[in-house]
Amino acid sequence: NTLHISHIHLVLVSAVVCFSYLFDTSVLAEVPEKAFRPVINYSIPTHVNISFTLSAILEVDVRLQLLTSFLWINLMWDNPFISWNPEECVEVNKLTVSAENLWLPDIFIVESNSMDVDRAPTGLSAYVSSDGRIKYDRPVRVTSICNLDIFYFPFDQQNCTFTFTSFLYTVDSMLLGMDKEVWEITATSHDIIQTQGEWELLGINKATLKMLVGSNVYDQITFYVAIRRRPFLYVINLLVPSGFLIAIDAFSFFLPAESESRAPFKITLLLGYNVFLLLMNELLPASGTPLISVYFALCLSLMVLSLLETIFITYLLHLATTQPPPMPRWLHSLLL
Ligand SMILES: *[C@@H]1O[C@H](CO)[C@@H](O)[C@H](O)[C@H]1NC(C)=O
Ligand SMILES: *[C@@H]1O[C@H](CO)[C@@H](O)[C@H](O)[C@H]1NC(C)=O
Ligand SMILES: *[C@@H]1O[C@H](CO)[C@@H](O)[C@H](O)[C@H]1NC(C)=O
Repeated sequence: NTLHISHIHLVLVSAVVCFSYLFDTSVLAEVPEKAFRPVINYSIPTHVNISFTLSAILEVDVRLQLLTSFLWINLMWDNPFISWNPEECVEVNKLTVSAENLWLPDIFIVESNSMDVDRAPTGLSAYVSSDGRIKYDRPVRVTSICNLDIFYFPFDQQNCTFTFTSFLYTVDSMLLGMDKEVWEITATSHDIIQTQGEWELLGINKATLKMLVGSNVYDQITFYVAIRRRPFLYVINLLVPSGFLIAIDAFSFFLPAESESRAPFKITLLLGYNVFLLLMNELLPASGTPLISVYFALCLSLMVLSLLETIFITYLLHLATTQPPPMPRWLHSLLL
């Protein structure tokens, strides 16, 4: 195998020699071969095929509008300077080469702060096949900006984007493509996804648009990742207790108004509801106003209203029983 690697090396060295002739400078001869985009004719763009697998959805931060996820990014491109005849080389048609020795396309995700993409482990290898096709996979932890809308919390869906593009190479030098369909990416992500946490993957879509920065046009591929929150935890912890408290408050009108225990009962319920809201504040999103907060505020105001009504009824009852003339029958039947 050392023999074959040195063969590849020889080919690469000859490429460097080519380039140093091309540029005719002595400085460039010192530059390692992997510094150059590997093409025979520099007017031919390099085709890079991109795909990824979403292996975990770790966190969705509503306050900072960030999505943290694990991706396995697969890149594939051709290096015309590497090739060998597998029949001459004991049927070896695939080799792993340390990625440090290869030219790598500078693909990054626009939505993520690039420092996070660099959080990929170092010392990875790439597969090189006998026809010069290079397959490079790396796992990355991506913290990407995502426009989160929590109005329908906890029944919300989010649509986050991952836009892959080259940092430096314009369309003249690099074209992006895909060798897999998006449904394949979705299917493998569904199979691989590790977390049974709060978020569930719904589907992945893609769009290919060119990005125009100044006069430079960059190729890019945008993936739309739709995720949905699993609402069970919130239904159990938020909606059910709140519903119970409201129901008890409504049923407390069955307590006889004459017994004078209705108002203290309602005050206790109101206190209980406030404690519930304080405890549950941590489960609610840290920013924005979801519909559920409006619902809680409405419940609280209904309870306050019913307490006020009870006080009013008690007052009227007091008037009716202490001061003649007695209450008219219709008012008595309406209030009591
Ligand atoms: C490089 O490619 C361009 C466009 O395909 C072509 O016009 C040019 O002649 C090629 N140069 C060489 C040296 O082959
Ligand atoms: C990229 O994928 C296309 C199929 O969509 C395939 O024809 C092409 O050879 C692939 N190129 C590389 C460099 O993998
Ligand atoms: C996500 O948003 C994009 C554009 O805004 C749209 O094309 C795509 O269909 C959306 N995906 C889902 C699953 O809603």
